[in-house]
Amino acid sequence: MYVRGVAKTKFGILNESVPELAYEAMTKAVHDAGLPIEDIQVIYVANFAGGPLQNQLQLNSVIASLLPGINIPIIRVETACASAGAATFQALHMLKSFNNIMVVGVEKMTNLNIYDTTKGISSAGDLILDQKEGLSFPASYALVAQQHMLQYGTSEEDLALISLKDHQNANMNPLAHFYEKQVTMEMIKHSPVVCSPLKLFDCSPVSDGAAALILSRKRDSDRDIEVVGSALATDTISFCQRKNLTSFQAAKVAAREAYSQAGITGKQVDFAEVHDCFTIAEIVAMEDLGFCEQGQGKKMIRDGETRLGGRLPIGTDGGLKANGHPIGATGASQIYEIVTQLRGEAGKRQVKDARYGLSHNIGGVGGTCAVHILKR
Ligand code: COA
Repeated sequence: MYVRGVAKTKFGILNESVPELAYEAMTKAVHDAGLPIEDIQVIYVANFAGGPLQNQLQLNSVIASLLPGINIPIIRVETACASAGAATFQALHMLKSFNNIMVVGVEKMTNLNIYDTTKGISSAGDLILDQKEGLSFPASYALVAQQHMLQYGTSEEDLALISLKDHQNANMNPLAHFYEKQVTMEMIKHSPVVCSPLKLFDCSPVSDGAAALILSRKRDSDRDIEVVGSALATDTISFCQRKNLTSFQAAKVAAREAYSQAGITGKQVDFAEVHDCFTIAEIVAMEDLGFCEQGQGKKMIRDGETRLGGRLPIGTDGGLKANGHPIGATGASQIYEIVTQLRGEAGKRQVKDARYGLSHNIGGVGGTCAVHILKR
């Protein structure tokens, strides 16, 4: 199975509506694939906050309204921030019955005040155990960071290095939320505390945007990129139901399955897009994906191994931290970046001679994880 076409809108604070963002990504993706829209047989639309933030559900039918006269199956998928990863997983399985399927991830988040937005995002946490206790996402990941620091000696400086690397990468990505924002270590270290130890520059921003993928059963041209691993795993929604705060079991299980399908280990991955909704999440991802031993993520960061030009570049598009995190679009945007890199079309941020790229898309605080491995 192959990714034949990819597209992404600008991520950031945008004027466009959900249908406008989706339409832009969808039309660019079919153009990139060189296919007429009539050749798409199924569409998966990934979206998280249509209900809590936009009062717009039945997005499948919203997408159908953009394509009058095309009455194909359109299905909305929601698994919080992993919505597009889960939609891609499902679409790949559906390719056993169809030839060309589109995944479009879309989210509009910036039209409300930050209080209502945070409350809406919190709906991905357990109603009783998390939401009613005030455990927002920055608060949850702050607990992960506190525990990781205590157990493994990870420091605030390590988190700042991740943020700096991501902002530097975003400066080479015109579609990134923070493209052209010049960020220094001083700015990161002195940014306001959001939830200790996480500061403003440890957080992904609230973004609007869309990304789309065209998945095909057969290879059509040299630009098509093969999907050699696709896995999805699920875990309990709340921290209170977990034994370990410094590792996500769903990520480990999904990674193990995806590596087994691809016939590789984490050490053979050349570059990755991981779900760094907060900087600490990047370290947890690196360890869960087997890029290093548990507790050793900090060493890879300190040694510069995850920077562009390092042994295993991570977040070449700026990551969720600086590329942006329009929740429903994120998993598709990660695959957009991997395909762009494997095609050799990433311009200034190009990773040299890469063969295997991996995407890791988390929903909630490890409640869902989709892992995809693509090969040139
Ligand atoms: N990183 C760096 N800078 C950020 C930023 C971020 N995450 N979020 C906002 N900014 C900047 C803005 O660009 C703006 O800069 P300017 O004054 O130079 O224009 C400034 O900070 C104020 O922006 P504002 O929109 O008022 O920030 P805010 O206080 O409303 O929001 C957060 C900041 C951290 C609360 C918000 O980004 C957030 O909630 N992030 C997490 C989102 C989340 O939980 N996603 C789901 C993850 S699972």
